[in-house]
Amino acid sequence: MDEYVKIIVEGKTYEFPIILGSEGEKAIDISKLRQMTGLITMDPGFVNTGSCISNITYMDGEKGILRYRGVPIEQLAENSTFVETASLLINGILPAKNELNRFSVLLNDNSLVHEDMQIFYQNFPRGAHPMSILSSMVNALRSFYPALQTVEEEINITVTRLLSKVRTMAAMSYKISKGHKVVYPRPDLSYAANFLNMMFDTPVKPYKIEEDLVKALNVFWILHADHEQSCSTSAVRIVGSARVNLYAAISSGIAALSGPLHGGANQAVIEMLTHIIENSIKVEQVIQRAKNKKDPFKLMGFGHRVYKSYDPRAKIMKKYCDKLFEKFNFHDPLLDLAKELEEAALKDDYFIEHHLYPNIDFYSGIVLRAIGIPTNMFTVIFAIGRMPGWIAQWKESADDPNWKLNRPRQIYMGQPKTDYVPIEER
Ligand code: ACO
Repeated sequence: MDEYVKIIVEGKTYEFPIILGSEGEKAIDISKLRQMTGLITMDPGFVNTGSCISNITYMDGEKGILRYRGVPIEQLAENSTFVETASLLINGILPAKNELNRFSVLLNDNSLVHEDMQIFYQNFPRGAHPMSILSSMVNALRSFYPALQTVEEEINITVTRLLSKVRTMAAMSYKISKGHKVVYPRPDLSYAANFLNMMFDTPVKPYKIEEDLVKALNVFWILHADHEQSCSTSAVRIVGSARVNLYAAISSGIAALSGPLHGGANQAVIEMLTHIIENSIKVEQVIQRAKNKKDPFKLMGFGHRVYKSYDPRAKIMKKYCDKLFEKFNFHDPLLDLAKELEEAALKDDYFIEHHLYPNIDFYSGIVLRAIGIPTNMFTVIFAIGRMPGWIAQWKESADDPNWKLNRPRQIYMGQPKTDYVPIEER
């Protein structure tokens, strides 16, 4: 494309090419800006900055579109499984039947966790958040499986190992936190069914696998599998750009995801809803607080950096939430309150003007509660779901011939040169 943007600096004109994406998105390529003009750009929060060219996920925040490798999220949620979607994201195309079978077998073959890792779990203090435990344990995998990143085959094994073991490790942390015996993965079960069994099976009460719950968990994971350059994915890419191993890069993604403005929001939504109910706060009061600029309170599960019309994942999550509640005749006062809050917010001028809609986290926590997942494990479940996206993004950046160490710049506004003053003279 031969379009240019002209920038005039001190009377001199410089031309910078425009890059055109496959869906018509445009970007100014300023990679030579500093070299040519001596200037840098300032973009707090990177709200206008593209950090890479990617073939993985397309989203349009204005139209509420999300596609993985071109396939719409609605079609994947309806027809695919998490394992198939993971293969699509990591390998770039939908797998053929034999490829999917091979991938599933490989996932099962790698699902056991080194017994010595159990000792680590025992030594975390009681009450440690499962996300910090998971982040540490994923990083620790490097010490147990050190042969990494030399040939393509080894990377594939590492990737499969991570995807499989992270599910076992998550279930293991839950069991250990409860003081229960760890349940081992079973090769006859699917990825999601296996996880539920490892979480909830006990010697006194065998876990009954319900296909509707397995489907709901698959949908939850598919909806979370990638979201282009989110905060945690950018963390994975930035840390990965220093050529650290995959486990270290993913561990940093898990740490970033744990924040309440990001993946931690699903837990924050449940805590907010519970607080409202326990303190008999009226919906109108909640809305007023969220609008009050002097109050740091925000309506958790509302708003998104990119989606400014609606979050397509929230729509699908709400649909599966309703399906699940109807099928099992569940009742949850948090769901009733969430619906009331949504209705009130969507009618309110502040929320309309600020383009604030429910994001996926508004209903996802309620679905996880219905499946039986405890609140402090919510973000861990999200992390398992995001694993294929992080891996695909890490792999894409590792394979990029223009790979560069990520190292932004800054504008210094501190003290000018200041001479050292000996301590007795200060
Ligand atoms: N409740 C009330 N007001 C809000 C909310 C909210 N949930 N979200 C944004 N706003 C307001 C801001 O106060 C701001 O108002 P102003 O322009 O009058 O000052 C305006 O909307 C824009 O908000 P920003 O925070 O600047 O938007 P940004 O794109 O930076 O933030 C974010 C997006 C962080 C998700 C924000 O909407 C938020 O904090 N939401 C609640 C937390 C949440 O649900 N996070 C999950 C995100 S989805 C995910 O990570 C899986």
